Amino acid sequence: LASIEVDVSAVEVGQSIKVKWRGKPVFIRNRTEKELEEANAVPLDELPDANARNANLPGDAQATDENRAATGKEPWLVMIGVCTHLGCIPLMNAGDYDGYFCPCHGSHYDTAGRIRKGPAPENLHIPPYEFLSDTNIKIG
Ligand code: FES
Repeated sequence: LASIEVDVSAVEVGQSIKVKWRGKPVFIRNRTEKELEEANAVPLDELPDANARNANLPGDAQATDENRAATGKEPWLVMIGVCTHLGCIPLMNAGDYDGYFCPCHGSHYDTAGRIRKGPAPENLHIPPYEFLSDTNIKIG
C-alpha cells in the first residue's frame, strides 16, 4: 500500500508505537514535556546533521525540533525507524540522549530523532504524513 492510516488515540503521553509502511518500521511517539524541552535546548550548531530530513518540508529545512515534529502537534514524532548508518532498527527510549539507540554500531539519537553521537550520518528520516484528525495519521 502506498499510504496507511494509523489510529493513535490509545498512544498516551510518553508512549510509542511502531507501525509498518512500505516494508519499513515507522516510530510514532507522543513525547513528554521533558523530551520536548530537551530537544528544544540543543543549539543547531551542535548537531552533526543540521538538516530536518523531513519529507514534508523543503529539502533545506533546518533540524529544529519544530521542523522535526508535526506542525501544530509538536509532541508527536513520526519517523522511519531505520538507522541512517547501515539500516538497523534502533531501540526506542534508549541511548545517551533519551531518544533512540542503534545497537549495531552505537549511534545515539535524541528525543527529536536527531543523530548526536556515533557513526550514523543523518537524522532519522521523517516520512510524508499528515494528521487527518487529532487521532488519525496518514503516512505516505
Ligand atoms: Fe545503526 Fe550502524 S546501523 S549504528
